[in-house]
Amino acid sequence: MPTYFESGKIIDKVGEVSLYDFDGELYLDISGQLWMSSHEREEVERQISNKPKGDCLELGLGLGIASYIIIKQGSVKSLTTVEINKDVIDLYYKSMEGLLWPNHKIVQGNCLDYLVMVGQTKKRFDFVFIDFYSIIDEDTLPDIEASIRLSKKILNTNGEVVAWFDTSTPDENAERFWNAIKRI
Ligand SMILES: C[S@@+](CC[C@H](N)C(=O)[O-])C[C@H]1O[C@@H](n2cnc3c(N)ncnc32)[C@H](O)[C@@H]1O
Repeated sequence: MPTYFESGKIIDKVGEVSLYDFDGELYLDISGQLWMSSHEREEVERQISNKPKGDCLELGLGLGIASYIIIKQGSVKSLTTVEINKDVIDLYYKSMEGLLWPNHKIVQGNCLDYLVMVGQTKKRFDFVFIDFYSIIDEDTLPDIEASIRLSKKILNTNGEVVAWFDTSTPDENAERFWNAIKRI
């Protein structure tokens, strides 16, 4: 059964990852599931605000909307993005067509493994943006909580963590999410 954006136009496809244009907005479909849409840009911008600075880390590339919001900020020196899906990375490189930022590094891998690995080194970040989930629920919350806890350990003094909050999250899960943030 096609979802609403599938009645739009496929702009690009790499493996199981498809990029749709529907009503002027972009939709990222990974293996038949919607992971990101450009209509969330304003809310992503609001949540990230002017917090990025220095060396930044982003968990989950998606459409690269948050990457752009972070890296365009004047106080940002570098951005490292960890993305698990190689097709998502390849689609991003294709769509950027040479407009890549020299200080933006994309690493393929599981972001939780990456956080553990960095924790064992002296490398530290000034800002971490967490957005590697498509929904906040009982299944994803344990990994979200772990990512928040691990991110805290790799922050420089005055470093900040922002985890994407889906405003349609039911109260019970939202409370668990905000409790994890408060423990930072
Ligand atoms: C909601 S999208 C990110 C949207 C992104 N913030 C943007 O602005 O376009 C989540 C991304 O995280 C990736 N992802 C899922 N699990 C992951 C994991 N364990 N580690 C790294 N990336 C993951 C997905 O493949 C997807 O590209």
